[in-house]
Amino acid sequence: MVISMDLGPDSYDIVLERGVLRRAGETLDLNRKVMLVTDAGVPPAYADAIEAQCASCTRRAVAPGEARKSFAELEAILTEMLQAGFTRGDCVVALGGGMVGDLAGFAASCYMRGVDFYNLPTTVLSQVDSSIGGKTAVNLGDIKNIAGAFYQPKKVLIDADVLQTLPARQVSAGLAEALKSSLIRDAALFERFERGVSADDMEDVIAASLRIKKDVVEQDEKERGLRRILNFGHTIGHGIEAVTGLYHGECVALGMLAMCSDAVRGRLLPVLESLRLPTSVHADAERVYEAMLHDKKAVGGSLTVVRVETPGDCALEPVAPESLREKIAQVVK
Ligand SMILES: NC(=O)c1ccc[n+]([C@@H]2O[C@H](COP(=O)([O-])OP(=O)(O)OC[C@H]3O[C@@H](n4cnc5c(N)ncnc54)[C@H](O)[C@@H]3O)[C@@H](O)[C@H]2O)c1
Repeated sequence: MVISMDLGPDSYDIVLERGVLRRAGETLDLNRKVMLVTDAGVPPAYADAIEAQCASCTRRAVAPGEARKSFAELEAILTEMLQAGFTRGDCVVALGGGMVGDLAGFAASCYMRGVDFYNLPTTVLSQVDSSIGGKTAVNLGDIKNIAGAFYQPKKVLIDADVLQTLPARQVSAGLAEALKSSLIRDAALFERFERGVSADDMEDVIAASLRIKKDVVEQDEKERGLRRILNFGHTIGHGIEAVTGLYHGECVALGMLAMCSDAVRGRLLPVLESLRLPTSVHADAERVYEAMLHDKKAVGGSLTVVRVETPGDCALEPVAPESLREKIAQVVK
């Protein structure tokens, strides 16, 4: 299946097909220098398969973890490209989850002011969400995604087969972003989550989530308005992420729970439980509040939050940050 992202001159195809990584060379132009960025937690066999299809490959396996989405790693990647003689006609390939995709995408946007970027996502989160839309970034200390660029990939290849090696907790965390998409835009997808999703449903869930994101990004690529709805659950979620050791998707799940109506919360709780996602976390609520304020979306004194009153329908709402203290208290105990 091919889903096309229509962004004028920056349009690209998202190819969703089992086994597509083994045939990547048929779809991508790998007949040049390729900077292959992966992380050490991604089974190396996947990178071996890509490397075998490249004319000239420089591989960098970053240590796993959000802390490596950093300037130090960005510099290391750019330095390797320089030392290997990469030119503007060469390319960067990300093979991993959202951490690798954001980091490698930003490197591609910077090197010689931009080289081709291909994203090959290997986690549920990156397959349902982060690999499309063109947001790339690194963190600065514990402030997430504060330095980055909108830089669209030239192509995205999604191979659901690679999810077989992904730990169950990571699968659940990734499904939180698909659940987010359903709550803001697609009641039928939310009802599917209520009925229960299994591994057999994964490709359908990925495709449905990507279509929601594609539709939003096509209308507002640079997040001037509508695209902010994709941040549902993220304002409080990023605060929780900075303070706890929970995964990004787990924090988004908690953030969503705090920002929906009582009626939606009543339906969301059993879905989160069935996916083994957290419904509360033990942490210092004041520290979460402070971390949330430090997040880039809090800059300027007022915050735009996303609220979901009924599944599939959401609204953007400017709020005073202090009003979120009681929302945080609903999930941080
Ligand atoms: N750019 C965007 O639009 C966007 C959207 C949402 C989230 N994000 C970012 O995405 C990141 C989170 O991404 P993530 O949840 O994919 O986490 P991740 O990239 O940190 O990967 C999670 C773990 O899974 C391992 N892994 C990856 N693929 C595997 C596989 N196939 N088999 C076994 N292990 C595998 C990795 O080694 C890592 O330890 C955060 O940095 C977040 O800010 C970006």
